[in-house]
Amino acid sequence: MSTVVNYRTHTCGQLRREHVGQTVLLQGWVHRVRDLGGVTFFDVRDRHGLTQVVVRAGADGATPAKLRPEVVVAVHGQVEARDASAINSKIFTGDIEVVATGVEILNEAKTPPFPINEDVVVLEETRLRYRYLDLRRPALQHNLILRHKVAIAARRYFDDEGFLEIETPILTRSTPEGARDYLVPSRVHRGEFFALPQSPQIFKQILMIAGLDRYFQICRCFRDEDLRADRQPEFTQIDVEVSFATEELIYEIVEGAIVSMWTAAGFAVSRSFERMTYADAMRLYGSDKPDLRPGMPIADVSGLFAESPFSVFRDAVAAGGVVRGVVVAGGGKYSRKELDELTEQARQMGGSGLIWTRVVQGALQSSALKAAGEAPLRAAFEAAGGQEGDLFLMAAGPTDKTATLLGNLRLVVARKAGLLKADEFRFVWVTNFPLFEWNPDDSRWDAMHHPFTSPMPDDVGFLETEPGRVRARAYDLAVNGSEIAGGSIRIHQPDVQRHVFRLLGITDEQASARFGFFLEALEYGTPPHGGIAFGLDRIIAILCGESSIREVMAFPKTAQAVDLMSGAPSTVDDRQLRDLHIHTVASQGPKGD
Ligand code: AMO
Repeated sequence: MSTVVNYRTHTCGQLRREHVGQTVLLQGWVHRVRDLGGVTFFDVRDRHGLTQVVVRAGADGATPAKLRPEVVVAVHGQVEARDASAINSKIFTGDIEVVATGVEILNEAKTPPFPINEDVVVLEETRLRYRYLDLRRPALQHNLILRHKVAIAARRYFDDEGFLEIETPILTRSTPEGARDYLVPSRVHRGEFFALPQSPQIFKQILMIAGLDRYFQICRCFRDEDLRADRQPEFTQIDVEVSFATEELIYEIVEGAIVSMWTAAGFAVSRSFERMTYADAMRLYGSDKPDLRPGMPIADVSGLFAESPFSVFRDAVAAGGVVRGVVVAGGGKYSRKELDELTEQARQMGGSGLIWTRVVQGALQSSALKAAGEAPLRAAFEAAGGQEGDLFLMAAGPTDKTATLLGNLRLVVARKAGLLKADEFRFVWVTNFPLFEWNPDDSRWDAMHHPFTSPMPDDVGFLETEPGRVRARAYDLAVNGSEIAGGSIRIHQPDVQRHVFRLLGITDEQASARFGFFLEALEYGTPPHGGIAFGLDRIIAILCGESSIREVMAFPKTAQAVDLMSGAPSTVDDRQLRDLHIHTVASQGPKGD
């Protein structure tokens, strides 16, 4: 036991039956108080747990009136066993209580805007505004503790595998990952700006050129893009790069890292991850990050409806589109109301309609029975693998739109049927991405991953003639419908890199101005290399069963990219602006939108 009198002897989660009889000092927050007149019970809380304290008449210090939730206290007392009837098996310290000889109030607390001692739903804005109080709640503390354990496990894993953790600059040049940059004006160089890194991509490649061989870094990335539940303007990657890497080597390294992280979070997962091409993922699941938990692949039944009397199906096929559907096992029992709701949901998701078909006691029922006829509908139902008691949901239209619609719809149905279990993890490598995607707004090709991704050797011949046909040596790792890592084998030949820049509409002059240092570095003996970056926030959210990464970050920003606690972003003094040679146009309100 510690001999320091003014520091706790134990945490609030530590005392057990074996401590009975000991004199202890606990420090923490008053969690909940019950004043029974003459004797007061209260729980003292810290991040380790709760301990029940009994204050009998005659104990020094705090009166019941002073013991209010969130007041900071030091409790001196003796550990006693609770009566059998008072044992609380829900908390680790439930066998004992501390009978106070004195309670010191170390600091007062205002009444918090929401209770810390109850699991109530609180408006997210209020939670973020008072994040320090929100973070006192056990659920968030659990998430941050788990985050710490997983990050440490990852560090240990990469260290064991011979990786060096190397820091890269935050004040840097633009690093193209497809988002807008956050810019920082230079005071010293008038009119010039640093960009915050969207990722350390160029630096990690330069570390390979420098011979560092195996690099990793748990690093912050900054992207000014539209925010969603799984996107923050600053987020954390576990960034990895390996010299002489092949795809197989990267898969092996990543699968090992995932097993370490999942193990640290208390989940056993096997290393044999599934693999699927991008084309198959889009065709079968309508997503490049397919959730494989519910099964339910999308079936293409277009061929059965090319000549259909049902014009919706026939026209879709004639226009080069598709008729596709998903089988909902056991969905034949859906009520009319549920079917109407699903149809409505499909419409809200942008679909033009949804046709359902089912077989009940041998008889085929369908919302398009009259229009499309029984025989082709039955053939489609069976071709998709439907059986007695199942439901087949079909949509028709342009290929991509229909795939996305059915991809989303299968998840709605799967969620409703309880098929998306938070503790079942289905990892899938998505491979063979196209190198480029057509950007119709700017009428040009964009890099689908980033401009440093190597084309597949067999497709290099199509770079000029058919850029849309060139596949990339890129891979994403998805789990349960979330993209948790993405990377590629890189271009290591300067001429190929220049060629790809040109195809992306970046002229040689622009390439020299923006990436000259990198193109030059490539000329000095660049080893073939490749890598990947994990989205740590997303990984932790999945491990915590949270649907938003805000729940696993200590100080996240809102969907409007604002920190409600500190009030950032904010205006600054005129003087600071002058120093930075910045002139702002007329004020547009406090947030200057
Ligand atoms: P990419 O852009 O795919 O690749 O990012 C890697 C992973 O980071 C996560 N992620 C995000 N998480 C939270 N908020 C965001 N705004 C956000 N954006 C991305 C995702 C994603 O899979 N330099 C390349 C990696 C490489 O090629 O090695 C890169 O950054 O989980």
